[in-house]
Amino acid sequence: MMTMEKTYQIVLILLLYTINLSLSVHLTDIQIPEYADIRDIVTLSCSYRMGRNKLNSVKWYKDDREFFRYAPLMDQQISTWTVVGITLYSENPYRCNKTTCSVSLDNLSSMSSGIYRCEISADAPSFTINFSDQRMTIVALPRHDPIIQGLNPIYSMDEMLEANCTTASYPPAVIIWHINGILMTAERAQLTQYEIQLDIRDLQVRSRTMEIQYRIASRGQLFLKCTADIELLNVKRQTSELVYIRKIEKMSNLRLINSAYLS
Ligand SMILES: *[C@@H]1O[C@H](CO)[C@@H](O)[C@H](O)[C@H]1NC(C)=O
Ligand SMILES: *[C@@H]1O[C@H](CO)[C@@H](O)[C@H](O)[C@H]1NC(C)=O
Ligand SMILES: *[C@@H]1O[C@H](CO)[C@@H](O)[C@H](O)[C@H]1NC(C)=O
Ligand SMILES: *[C@@H]1O[C@H](CO)[C@@H](O)[C@H](O)[C@H]1NC(C)=O
Repeated sequence: MMTMEKTYQIVLILLLYTINLSLSVHLTDIQIPEYADIRDIVTLSCSYRMGRNKLNSVKWYKDDREFFRYAPLMDQQISTWTVVGITLYSENPYRCNKTTCSVSLDNLSSMSSGIYRCEISADAPSFTINFSDQRMTIVALPRHDPIIQGLNPIYSMDEMLEANCTTASYPPAVIIWHINGILMTAERAQLTQYEIQLDIRDLQVRSRTMEIQYRIASRGQLFLKCTADIELLNVKRQTSELVYIRKIEKMSNLRLINSAYLS
């Protein structure tokens, strides 16, 4: 048999549990990209379930500095503050209601990198607060596959194949060449890297070119592949080209024909 005391204890625990349940406010989803492209408009969003509570406010912070507040119970529902690196997208700065609040940022710069937080609070009597945060880093992804330049469609045996492969990003990519599936190392080809800086706002975007000089030592065709790899962002982009090696040995004649054709 259960003692009276024990029954009270259980009732009390259940009661506290129920109160606790009704006091809690749930952050059901938060969308803050880990990496955002500096040229994009980025939308941060936060979804919540208030249970029996009334939503008092949703606050957005960057590095502990509040830049946006939605307070549906106030006369002035929206307030914004100036924070370095934060520009609200003028066309469509926010969308907030009882369940979701999103803010869109424009004019990103390296100053926009940081820890973003969504904080929700319930109204009286509980005033419960819940929040979630996530780091966002501003990058510049390659806008297209790497560009191969300088190739001829046909080469001769023993000729030097020369080509460039170029890509631009921040952080900079590692560029590698493969010929017929073989990784081109310094032993197999001459590789020269060039780099120029193309700033986008304050982000030091690098345009990198990897030049390959490769002595052709086999007949048939060469399948060239250039890969731009940004390990941190888990981004890999590649471009391939096929070139043919002449069967005919009379190179001097062919050169004459070619130069006549080109001039
Ligand atoms: C905050 O939200 C999470 C996710 O819904 C939930 O597990 C947690 O109990 C909430 N905290 C408070 C204090 O309401
Ligand atoms: C864009 O951001 C930069 C750096 O934060 C700032 O100096 C500039 O005024 C902003 N431009 C606009 C149009 O908001
Ligand atoms: C709140 O806004 C979101 C997206 O902006 C929308 O999907 C949802 O239906 C809205 N909810 C209510 C209750 O208006
Ligand atoms: C590759 O690019 C570099 C730097 O722009 C240039 O000097 C070189 O001539 C180019 N090579 C080829 C094969 O186009």
